[in-house]
Amino acid sequence: MHKIEPKALVDRFGRRVDYLRLSVTDRCDFRCVYCMAEDMRFAPKAEILSLEELATIAEAFVELGVRKIRLTGGEPLIRHNIMSLIERLGSLEALDELVLTTNGSQLQRLASPLRDAGVQRLNISLDSLNPRRFRQLTRIGHLEQVVAGIDAACDAGFERLRLNAVIMRGRNDDEVLDLVDFARSREVDLAFIEEMPLGLIDEHDRALTLATSDWIRERITECYALTPLGDPDGTAGPARLYRMAGSDSRIGFISPHSNNFCHLCNRVRVTVEGRLLLCLGNEHSVDLRDILRSGADAATLRQALVDAMDLKPERHEFNVNDEPQILRFMNATGG
Ligand code: 5AD
Ligand code: SF4
Repeated sequence: MHKIEPKALVDRFGRRVDYLRLSVTDRCDFRCVYCMAEDMRFAPKAEILSLEELATIAEAFVELGVRKIRLTGGEPLIRHNIMSLIERLGSLEALDELVLTTNGSQLQRLASPLRDAGVQRLNISLDSLNPRRFRQLTRIGHLEQVVAGIDAACDAGFERLRLNAVIMRGRNDDEVLDLVDFARSREVDLAFIEEMPLGLIDEHDRALTLATSDWIRERITECYALTPLGDPDGTAGPARLYRMAGSDSRIGFISPHSNNFCHLCNRVRVTVEGRLLLCLGNEHSVDLRDILRSGADAATLRQALVDAMDLKPERHEFNVNDEPQILRFMNATGG
């Protein structure tokens, strides 16, 4: 029987999926303490999608109405030849937004080429402004390299650059205001993300170090009044945005523990091994690599994506006091 192909991706709860987060590598040149174990095993080459396979998947999603793609990792910019994929996606007419999450380590070299390839916005992780501490939190990274990368991105003309910070009690919780002042000095946005229980880490006890968005907001309001903004340009997603007097920088809070935003969820993720993940906080997935490597044509792949929408769970359940139920690490999940 001939199946009629629906044009849009809609799940059982009526949520329209128009945003794909595509992980292009599980590898990273950092080992952030909340993201990875010290000694990580990465996927062997045969198991990761080729750039061609990544492009095929991205294009299938765009044909089904996806309008925004975020490339994530690991660290997307350390994948060999990544610019060729970015240029290809950047030229897709039907894609409104191509954006990228990075640790900033490669931006001195790549900020301008990214902008030229059509990447509109960048999210750059920054958890500390103290070089020694930055090193401890990333285990390998150099603060000066990342700050130079942020400056390169500003110079390349990116608008609405966003810094992402994960605050941990007893680790970097004394830097909330320094990070805010840094964002103000560069006229960029800053989002505070509550640490999520993804992957088993033994570096710290997440239940003890969780700094909630409310706690962070109180630290900021000791210095700057925060005015709620809503979602003026429709890019906030799960972030709750605030404005500060005397600055264009916006402060966002992503609070998977204290605020459930699942009913607004418009996104799915694809890991670099080709697993389509329907929710960050659940294991429901479909193996797209299998489908691709079994020689499926474009229509079969699209139908698999449409069918997968039925698996999207209603919400995530994160509980800091339990053992993590999600054993994949953030680097394998795609930010
Ligand atoms: N919880 C919250 N945020 C995390 N990130 C990585 N691992 C975790 C985690 N377990 C952050 C990174 C990056 C963003 C994509 O996710 O710092 O900024
Ligand atoms: Fe790398 Fe980002 Fe994970 Fe840090 S949080 S180890 S920069 S992928």
